[in-house]
Amino acid sequence: MHKRFLMTPGPTQIPPEVLLASAQPIIHHRTAEYSELFARVNEGLKYIFQTQNDVLCFSSSGTGAMESAVVNLCSAGDKVLICSSGKFGERWQQLAEAFGLESTVLAYDYGGKVNPDDVAAALKDDPGYKAVFVTHSETSTGVVNDIEAIGAIVAGHDAVLVSDSVSGMGSAEIRTDAWGVDVVVAGSQKALMLPPGMAFASVSDKAWALVEKSTLPRYYFDWAKARKGLKQPKPTTAYTPAVSLTVALDAALGMIREEGLKELFRRHRTMGRAAREAVKALGLELFSPDDERCSSVTAVKVPEGIEDAELRSLMLDRYGVQLAGGQGSMKGNIFRIGHCGYYNFSDIIVTITALELALNQLGYEVEIGRGVSRAEAVFAEEGS
Ligand SMILES: Cc1ncc(COP(=O)(O)O)c(C=O)c1O
Repeated sequence: MHKRFLMTPGPTQIPPEVLLASAQPIIHHRTAEYSELFARVNEGLKYIFQTQNDVLCFSSSGTGAMESAVVNLCSAGDKVLICSSGKFGERWQQLAEAFGLESTVLAYDYGGKVNPDDVAAALKDDPGYKAVFVTHSETSTGVVNDIEAIGAIVAGHDAVLVSDSVSGMGSAEIRTDAWGVDVVVAGSQKALMLPPGMAFASVSDKAWALVEKSTLPRYYFDWAKARKGLKQPKPTTAYTPAVSLTVALDAALGMIREEGLKELFRRHRTMGRAAREAVKALGLELFSPDDERCSSVTAVKVPEGIEDAELRSLMLDRYGVQLAGGQGSMKGNIFRIGHCGYYNFSDIIVTITALELALNQLGYEVEIGRGVSRAEAVFAEEGS
């Protein structure tokens, strides 16, 4: 019998309630029934984004929402500041390049954190930046950046702050309005507990002012069109939406509301801590910082003498536990345990068990049960 445990930072496990919701007979999107659903979904998105701003929905992966931010906020040749410390920071760079922007990159090594002082110094040096692009939860390394501190700095300038919260939304807190984050982008397949295929962008008034002046070409991802669709009394999308995913999102947002944001983020912090403590107890070295903010992904260095691909294949084939490998320059050097979304203590315990068994089988010296016991102790301390 092969039972599978998807422990990757996207796609992630989906609650049965959400899967069942998405299996309902399809409804038409130009109906009162859909408008009612879409209005509820929009309120739910504002709740999780912690914003009063409109949250726009697109049928695309998260990168689509990132691209939408670039094309709606900027004009060719605009100066932008990009904070990059991993694969998804690099994606902002690639998007800026693709659309002919003049970017300055605050580049940190993989595993590094954005230093808010560097952002302050760059904005002071050149007040001409239109936007600052940052990654909230850098999925490729497990680092969660200090968006609150960066937000406080950018708020004092003309530039808008754009945060890629694709893996952070719903697992590492981001207080969009309170922290002054003008644009937050997210995707469906991480902590929002949905299949891939929907992406989101919240847009502040400061950002809308920029949208009115920006001239990069856009069509499907035109934010103004998406905002027009949101107007009451019959909110809808500009184009045919991913109807079944929207129905599923309604169910997922209902679960998130029921749990409440405080408990949601506490659960994620506890899983992050348990994973880190367990890995350390096994004598492995963390790649992501040992920081309570790192609640979405735990990145671990592949121990000496072990082949990453072999370890992960064994965990999947023999124990059904699927981890993610390293990305970009970290390929082969780290593996990543995703715990953003529909995860709790049981998933962490199973993952650490499989890790111990697989390492043992590959001849790496581990004391069986040591990591699990440490993780369990963390759950006991934190009240699970
Ligand atoms: C932080 C971050 N940004 C952007 C993306 C890109 O999202 P997608 O693959 O849905 O286009 C991902 C996906 O892994 C991500 O983790």
